[in-house]
Amino acid sequence: MVSQNIRRIAICTGGGDAPGLNAVIRAVAVSAANRGWECYGIREGFNGIFFNERFPNGGVFRLTRESVRGITHLGGTMLGTTNKGNPLHFPLKMPDGSTKEIDRTDEIIEFFAKKEIDALVSVGGDGSLTIANALVQKGLRVVGVPKTIDNDLDKTATTFGFDTAVAFATESLDRLHSTAESHQRIMVVEVMGRYAGWIALHSGISGGAHAILIPEIPYDLKKVAEKIISRENDGRHYSLVVVAEGATSADGDHAVMEVAEIGHAERLGGIGERVARQLHELTGKDCRVVVLGHLLRGGSPTTFDRLAALRVGAAAVRALSEGYTGVMVALAFPDVNYVPLSDVAGRMRAVPLDCDTMKTGRDMGICFGD
Ligand code: F6P
Repeated sequence: MVSQNIRRIAICTGGGDAPGLNAVIRAVAVSAANRGWECYGIREGFNGIFFNERFPNGGVFRLTRESVRGITHLGGTMLGTTNKGNPLHFPLKMPDGSTKEIDRTDEIIEFFAKKEIDALVSVGGDGSLTIANALVQKGLRVVGVPKTIDNDLDKTATTFGFDTAVAFATESLDRLHSTAESHQRIMVVEVMGRYAGWIALHSGISGGAHAILIPEIPYDLKKVAEKIISRENDGRHYSLVVVAEGATSADGDHAVMEVAEIGHAERLGGIGERVARQLHELTGKDCRVVVLGHLLRGGSPTTFDRLAALRVGAAAVRALSEGYTGVMVALAFPDVNYVPLSDVAGRMRAVPLDCDTMKTGRDMGICFGD
């Protein structure tokens, strides 16, 4: 199991955290140790390299078998993460207060050369995999591990973190049925997912929502109001509406909390309030909003996510030992595949409108606002 040309590897976690990240870190560190390799953790994406001095115990530190013990079931990431400061578009503050964008990837390459670290396992979503691909172009040996609760990455069956997020959203919907029914209200539940509706769709169907609004289907709230009123006429005086944070109305209304800055994507949020206000106007019914937000990213990974995370972590080290670079390990049940990073970088997977889950929703009479 000893690879001839790898002695040291490093791992970093970038972008929003997702339940299962610690399981990946453990799988990578233990699989590396079992090959006689040293494994290093980089703190907060690549910040551990850029700002080594800011971290009391060093921005890049040794991950031993002992230091990753007992973390498989823990949420978050022991390495920390960031979704600011993309090294390809790093925001540099200028003396006049303005911000300039710089490319810091050469510093990463130099760091690996100086520390004689032979390869990187980069765990992240679309942004991190794009950075990983750029580092491969500059000669670094990199294997990517897909991560996001949003499930919006192409070429992998799913991503760890998604199942945990969907389970929490579904349980929340289960709890909201009784209070909505008791008060004869409309409950609008806003969930994360960026520009894809996977979390809304899966939790909405599983949790018995009556309407689900996803970014892939521009919505007309009059259709949702019709559905709610037809339920009223049938004697069912409450409704649950799940809204994906990236849902957009047919006339282009889209809720942004923070516009995109250099090295940082736009922040979505607030669509639930708008939908609730408009549904109140259209139906005259009392509406309440629940924004699940970051609760979807917290807590312990489900068994499914733990196993998926351990599998992609171990597979990343296996890929390196088999001589692969520039690939992402992808779940392709019952196997794991290696997919070129160039095929996934910058590509997003939306919900296909003809997929079976969508058909199930339609067959169950759920309104999609169209
Ligand atoms: O990509 C994961 C995600 O949780 C999205 O669903 C959400 O839009 C975004 O991250 C939120 O990011 P932040 O942690 O910056 O609020």
